[in-house]
Amino acid sequence: MIKIENVSKTYGKDFVAVDHINLEIKDGEIFGFLGPNGAGKTTTLKMITGITNITSGEIFINGKSIKTDDIAAKREFGFVPDNPDVLLRLKGIEYLNFIASIYGITKELREKRIKDLATRFEMTDALGDKIQNYSHGMRQKMLVIGVLLHDPAVWILDEPLTGLDPKSSFTLKEMMREHARSGKTVFFSTHVLEVAEKLCDRIAIIDKGKIIFVGTMEELKKHSASVQSLESLFLELTDHE
Ligand SMILES: Nc1ncnc2c1ncn2[C@@H]1O[C@H](COP(=O)(O)OP(=O)(O)O)[C@@H](O)[C@H]1O
Ligand SMILES: [Mg+2]
Repeated sequence: MIKIENVSKTYGKDFVAVDHINLEIKDGEIFGFLGPNGAGKTTTLKMITGITNITSGEIFINGKSIKTDDIAAKREFGFVPDNPDVLLRLKGIEYLNFIASIYGITKELREKRIKDLATRFEMTDALGDKIQNYSHGMRQKMLVIGVLLHDPAVWILDEPLTGLDPKSSFTLKEMMREHARSGKTVFFSTHVLEVAEKLCDRIAIIDKGKIIFVGTMEELKKHSASVQSLESLFLELTDHE
């Protein structure tokens, strides 16, 4: 569960990128964070994960404050950032062993999980290559495998399907569903309406830093028919890919 309470982020002196948002992502649901480019999605995810400071407000992950209890809060989640260009000089397998060491995963368990995940994402043959020689999609997959390796309760993913080939995209979506079905939390951002529509139990729409809708896709459809601004935003979100 993720609880976002009255959270704002100001960049520089007075640019408000996220403006007093409130959200509760419950256990067992896939929650989509939808909004056009520049709306404040990545900024919000970076605050949840403690990568950037919260200007005001509070965020709790499984009851642990990312502000005042950040080490404990960070143990609860796995994060896939939007830019997969990390630790490029490592080989895939070195990266995964590094993650496994940080999280104290035993040798037997890490070997089994790496084998399973690499198979599912068709990365087995690439494990011995350096990440800098991977394509964007392969780097993305390596990050996803790294996150799933330590089996976090809460998954936080920033535009996770962008740049993935159709099969990997299908696999990841399937795994997101499995994870939610087992009673855990999946929170991901997207600027593509169709992705949210197919996958999410609930969505929130953020625009210019403000949350303008929270609910199910069904509710959104009813709502947008009567609200002009939502309808045009809808078009913008459908337009992209
Ligand atoms: N480090 C930063 N410094 C200043 N402005 C930023 C920074 N990061 C993002 N922004 C601005 O904040 C707004 C929200 O950005 P972002 O959260 O990346 O949006 P999204 O992920 O929804 O596309 C944008 O106007 C962006 O230019
Ligand atoms: Mg973003």
